[in-house]
Amino acid sequence: MKILVTGGCGYIGSHTVVELIDAGHKVCILDNLSNSSSLVLDRIEKITGTKPEFFKGDIKSKDDLNDVFNLANFDCVIHFAGLKAVGESVEKPLEYYENNVCGTINLLQAMREHNCNNIIFSSSATVYGSPKSNPIFEDFPKLKATNPYGETKSVIEDILIDNAKANANFNAVLLRYFNPIGAHKSGLIGEDPKGIPNNLMPYITQVAVGKLERLGVFGNDYNTVDGTGVRDYIHVVDLSLGHLASLKCFDLDNNPQIEKSNCHIYNLGTGKGTSVLELVDAFESANDIEIPYEICPRRAGDIDECFANCDKAFKELGWKTKFNIVDMANDSWNWQINNPQGYQL
Ligand code: NAD
Ligand code: UFG
Repeated sequence: MKILVTGGCGYIGSHTVVELIDAGHKVCILDNLSNSSSLVLDRIEKITGTKPEFFKGDIKSKDDLNDVFNLANFDCVIHFAGLKAVGESVEKPLEYYENNVCGTINLLQAMREHNCNNIIFSSSATVYGSPKSNPIFEDFPKLKATNPYGETKSVIEDILIDNAKANANFNAVLLRYFNPIGAHKSGLIGEDPKGIPNNLMPYITQVAVGKLERLGVFGNDYNTVDGTGVRDYIHVVDLSLGHLASLKCFDLDNNPQIEKSNCHIYNLGTGKGTSVLELVDAFESANDIEIPYEICPRRAGDIDECFANCDKAFKELGWKTKFNIVDMANDSWNWQINNPQGYQL
């Protein structure tokens, strides 16, 4: 297939591009590099032997989108481009709604004008809010997000669902990611957060490499196994392979196990919850490095526990995860130690 990957220079996008190329697909990346580096393109070439086509552009610009769709007849779009910092979204809601929601509407209009009818969208477990129980199934109700970032994901899902209802030719796959961590085993691509990381694993690796002094554990009085927050961590390569498997939704005739619908929703996680202290412990044992930490107050908006039921993705797409928490800890560290400054040389 010829695939347009928006946000393909970012963390999850770059890993997915590697798997797409390895599977024989032709990839064009559209990215404005607002949260990534063009060095990623050389790294992808080192891993796969192929440099993906790259168009520096912005989904907020209808002209950029028109130009990129004039390059080729794309069979589908995998849409990663978006702003994703929860805290920043509270400070800058308009920027988040404009970039994520208006950007996606522009993209969908450009797809319609250029007769491209298939899209896979990066959604998030955040749309479930604080779930009534775990594991979380896809038919659990969506709850009001606690921040504008989460709300953009929920609104975009609704837009895609409505667009699928209105157009029988349009096909959408909504992938609800749980907590992606880890990196490609080569150590050539990985997560490169700007400034102090908001998320747990990059914080741990930056403590391990000596950039940060100690980890703050946000609360130890949650209703969980050891009082710290529990999440469903998924290796980014497994997550990327979930996108590859989702392409089957655009070929229902040859995949009778997939529900006959033009809009599909899948959880992508491992189905297993891990607490903050269990992740710290796994990292320490896997890499023989001590991570100093202190217990801090809870972080606003955090929930106790969140892990997925992923039976639907297995039954319909034949997808399941291969990597465990030790693999994730190893690969996150391998990336960090080989690139202590991320993509900055
Ligand atoms: P990332 O920031 O590493 O990648 C996003 C990419 O999109 C970046 O390369 C950025 O430069 C680009 N981008 C942003 N706005 C753009 C615009 N207007 N036009 C063109 N390019 C633009 O983030 P990621 O972790 O790879 O996440 C990818 C997607 O998955 C995002 O939509 C994110 O919200 C979603 N998601 C991520 C997580 C996570 O924990 N990482 C969890 C759930 C969902
Ligand atoms: N945590 C700490 N200290 C830190 C960072 C995090 O104790 O320095 C804890 C949090 O309190 C939470 C757990 O580690 O219990 C995981 O936190 P992350 O910030 O890594 O992940 P979240 O589950 O809060 O959120 C992430 C993404 C969201 C996405 C969500 C679901 O940041 O964008 O997963 O996919 F919506």
